[in-house]
Amino acid sequence: MYDDIAKILLTEEQIKKRVREMGKEISAVYGQEEVLAIGILKGGIVFLADLVREISSPVALDFMVVTSYGHSTESSGVLRILKDLEEEVEGRHVLIVEDIIDTGLTMKYLVENLKSRLPASLRVATLLDKPERRRVDVHVDFNGFTIPDEFVVGYGLDFAGKYRNLPYIGILKPEVYQ
Ligand code: IMP
Ligand code: MG
Repeated sequence: MYDDIAKILLTEEQIKKRVREMGKEISAVYGQEEVLAIGILKGGIVFLADLVREISSPVALDFMVVTSYGHSTESSGVLRILKDLEEEVEGRHVLIVEDIIDTGLTMKYLVENLKSRLPASLRVATLLDKPERRRVDVHVDFNGFTIPDEFVVGYGLDFAGKYRNLPYIGILKPEVYQ
């Protein structure tokens, strides 16, 4: 697994420090209001697990699964909900927690979908942002790191279902996915 990584982009320590800061930023915004944190499976799970423990506001959790890349590294632009929420969204302070915003297609879809359920507020937290690849506009409220246009894995992010358990964010060797 480790041999497939060309370069470590973000170390465990860097991620930990930034996630702690993000927790503080988020807590400052919500105060004692309850946050309904929606983890986008599967990629967002590692970030979500660490992030919620750095938030001092009350947090409720729920999860969604939307179709992603399959085994390719390019977005098809076609999105579908594979697992929907169990919680009611109406009147709640919703925070979408994602691993990465790339083309923005997934987040745009999620924001539009959740907005239609009339939350009291809707915000977006992402660990990584790859703005160079953006195809649609997305407003990001809390961003961990802006990264270059490289395919990354680890800390929840996968390639073909692998590498999610790497404790850092690494750039995959191109020969692994070519
Ligand atoms: P978007 O719809 O193009 O913004 O893509 C969002 C989804 O694509 C993320 O939730 C990830 O699952 C996946 N993705 C985008 N870039 C990467 C990457 O560099 N590594 C792993 N997954 C990625
Ligand atoms: Mg994914």
